[in-house]
Amino acid sequence: MPEYLWHGYLRLALAKFMIILGIETSCDETAAAIIEGRGDKVKVLSNIVSSQIEIHKKYGGVVPEVAAREHVVNILPVINQALEKADLTPALSLPRRGGFIDTIAVTVGPGLITSLLVGVETAKTLAYVWRIPVVAVNHIEGHVYANFIDNKPKFPALILTVSGGHTMLILMSGHGKYKVLGQTRDDAAGEAFDKAAMLLGLGYPGGPAIAAEAAKLRITNYELRINKLPRPMMNSNNFDFSFSGLKTALLYATQRDKNWKKKISEYAYEFEQAVAEVLVHKTLKAALKYNCKNIMLSGGVAANKELRSRMGNVVKEKSTGAKLIIPDFKYCTDNAAMIAAAGYFQAKRKKLTPWRKLKAEANQELK
Ligand code: KG4
Ligand code: ZN
Repeated sequence: MPEYLWHGYLRLALAKFMIILGIETSCDETAAAIIEGRGDKVKVLSNIVSSQIEIHKKYGGVVPEVAAREHVVNILPVINQALEKADLTPALSLPRRGGFIDTIAVTVGPGLITSLLVGVETAKTLAYVWRIPVVAVNHIEGHVYANFIDNKPKFPALILTVSGGHTMLILMSGHGKYKVLGQTRDDAAGEAFDKAAMLLGLGYPGGPAIAAEAAKLRITNYELRINKLPRPMMNSNNFDFSFSGLKTALLYATQRDKNWKKKISEYAYEFEQAVAEVLVHKTLKAALKYNCKNIMLSGGVAANKELRSRMGNVVKEKSTGAKLIIPDFKYCTDNAAMIAAAGYFQAKRKKLTPWRKLKAEANQELK
C-alpha cells in the first residue's frame, strides 16, 4: 500500500476523527461538502450545491453535454467555497488547504458519464496534489447515507430510495451491506413526477411543481371531480414498482377530459396520492417482513411532503416497532455531504483507493 494511504488511517487512529471532502457531479448539481466523522457520528462543516436547474429548465430535462460544461466551470469555485465555509484554513490557497483533509469521497457512478468524469478527475488531481487517498462512492449509497447525518440508524434498516433515476427498496444489514429487495421496472418515481408535470404543463423539475399544485387543492378543499388513477403493482407479490403506466393513465384521463386544464390541481393531487400510496404500502410491507429497526427515505422524491407525512402516519399507526428517519430536505436532493458521509464509513472500513485506480462508471450497481 502506498505510504500516503496511511495518512487517513493515522488521523483516525491518533485523533479518532476524519475530515472528508465530498464531491458530487453525477447529474446536474455541482456539489462539494466538508464533514467531520467521529465514531458513528457525522457532522457537516459545509455543504455547497450549485444547481443547474435554471439552465436545463428550458429544455425540459437535463442535457448531458451542457451539464458537463457547467460542472467544469463550477467545480473549483464550489470546492473552494466548501473549504472556506468549513473554516479550515481561510488564509491559504486551494492546494494548501488540503493539508487538513484526510480523504476525498467522490461519486463514481451511476450517473451521466460526462458529468461524473468532472468530479472524478478533480478528485484525482486534488488527491495527487494533497497526497491523500480517495474513496469511490456509489451515488445510491450516498443517498442512503444522507440518513446517517445527525442520526444513528440501527440495522437491519430498510431504505426507500426515490430519485430522478432510481426507485429502490434496499435492505441494509450493516455498513456497506445491501440487498436490493425491489426496484422500478420502468420509470423512476422522480422521472414519473417529471413526465406527469410535463403533461400537465407544469414545467421542470416536476416533483416540486406537482407538489405545489396538489397543495393548492388541499388548501381550497375541493371535492375531486376526476376519476381515480391506478395504484400500479400495489398488491403484487414482490417489492418491485412500475410508474410508466400511471403516467399513461394520466395522459389518457386528460385526453378524455375536455376541461382538464381547469382541473390541473386535481390531476396533480391524484397523481401525487397514487405515487405516495404505492411507495408507502410496499415500504411498510418490506419493513414488516424483514423486522427492520429503522425505515429511512432518501433521494429527491423524499423531499415530497405528502410522502413524508404519509410514511410517518403509517409507521405510527401500524406500530411496526421501526423508527422512521427522514433526512433534512437539503440532504434529500443531490448533495456532497451525503457522499462524504458514505465515504467516511467506507474509509473507516479501510476501503480507500489510490487516485490512479479511480474510475467513473456510468452504470455502476449498488454492491
Ligand atoms: O436525487 P435527485 O436530486 O437526483 C437524482 O439522483 O435523480 O432527485 C431529483 C428528482 C426529480 O425527478 C425531482 O422531480 C424529484 O426528485 N423531486 C421531487 C420533489 N423534489 C424533487 N419529487 C416529488 N416531490 C418533491 N417535493
Ligand atoms: Zn441523486
